[in-house]
Amino acid sequence: MGMNIDEIDVASIDHVLTTTRAVRRRLDLERPVDNELLYDCIDIAEQAPSGGNQGSRRWVIVRDPRVKEQMAELYMETGGQFMIGARDKIAGTGHPQERVMESAAYLAEHLAEVPAIIVPTIIGVHDGSGRPGLFDSVVQSVWSLCVALRARGLGTAWTTAILGKREELRDVLGVPKGNTQIAMIPVAWFTGDDFRRAPRYPAREITGIDRYGHQWERGPSDPPSLADGPMTTVEVDIKAPTSVVWDRVSDINLSEPYSEEFMGARWDDGVDGPALGAKFIGSNKHDAIGEWDVPCFVDRYVEGKEFGWCTSDPDNPGARWWFDIASIAGATRVRFSVALGPGPSGISAAIEAMPDKEPRILFRRIGEHRANMQRVIDGLAAELAKPAEDKPNVIFGD
Ligand SMILES: Cc1cc2nc3c(=O)[nH]c(=O)nc-3n(C[C@H](O)[C@H](O)[C@H](O)COP(=O)(O)O)c2cc1C
Repeated sequence: MGMNIDEIDVASIDHVLTTTRAVRRRLDLERPVDNELLYDCIDIAEQAPSGGNQGSRRWVIVRDPRVKEQMAELYMETGGQFMIGARDKIAGTGHPQERVMESAAYLAEHLAEVPAIIVPTIIGVHDGSGRPGLFDSVVQSVWSLCVALRARGLGTAWTTAILGKREELRDVLGVPKGNTQIAMIPVAWFTGDDFRRAPRYPAREITGIDRYGHQWERGPSDPPSLADGPMTTVEVDIKAPTSVVWDRVSDINLSEPYSEEFMGARWDDGVDGPALGAKFIGSNKHDAIGEWDVPCFVDRYVEGKEFGWCTSDPDNPGARWWFDIASIAGATRVRFSVALGPGPSGISAAIEAMPDKEPRILFRRIGEHRANMQRVIDGLAAELAKPAEDKPNVIFGD
């Protein structure tokens, strides 16, 4: 059953790959799911790569209502109760996790009614040896299963909460001691017609070329040039509320104690704080460039989320800098980015003097910025992790 490349319907494949969502509320709990369909999709999933080319995946399809009931109890204890509590607590508050929690809690309440639950396992136990053949040989296969099912009209949800009671699950399913259970995948026909893409970071913001974090807004052409928009991002997860982190990242002097290049900034006359279009003057120093002041203009301002500015000329900036912050489980993730060009900046003179060295100059400049930006976010993380000054230091009793 061969197929030529021009017969493959790329648009359909991409659509399925980009819309295989975690389906919970849209699982059709009434419509039976045929075992034959599940076997077919496991056959497809088995085509995924495996370390050492050893076929070590072993699967369980759970259909028996009594077994599903036992699994539902384990799931309730390991995650379900928490999800239901969280849903009830944040319902109607507009919390960013409100929809996910509603959906997760729904699954916890209805797990025993889902027509089939698939538990993929793999022969072997993680022993820290780095030997291939465990999680890294099964995750890609289970995802193929989810995608194959989605293409046929069935929804799945990748869940792992139940692994909090993996030994109890092992007993319920009779999984041998030498196997590792990887996930629990409820399967049902989905209701409704289609799913949407989820918001994710664009590839260009999370993909370095040849070196981690060396990103490009366009191209890069060969050889790369300033016109390609060399860009970089450093990031850190800080155990502090987003509101606290926001107060710091929206302060134009945040970098001053930490960066080796940035010497401080002051708002322009008559400007009293950050807002779109607000102007400030930044002072810098650099061994090769000297000392210089540069006008900066706030060009990103989303309260509590994004703060950014461009340098020199808003219509032809020398660089654009920005912070974006988001809450993740128990922390705030801070991303600090810079994109160079298209206008002139501190490196323009060097590029003009040595045009054939432009790629090298850009590479080194991005590296310098990364180092300073890393100092800034590390400094910020250390600052916010410190005990507040007005609180006594419990350990030393002062
Ligand atoms: C490793 C892993 C564990 C997960 N565990 C659970 C879980 O226990 N319960 C659940 O309802 N969803 C679980 N999920 C699903 C995520 O919540 C879901 O993928 C996420 O909200 C994004 O939604 P999307 O997949 O539709 O883009 C898990 C996903 C992954 C990758």
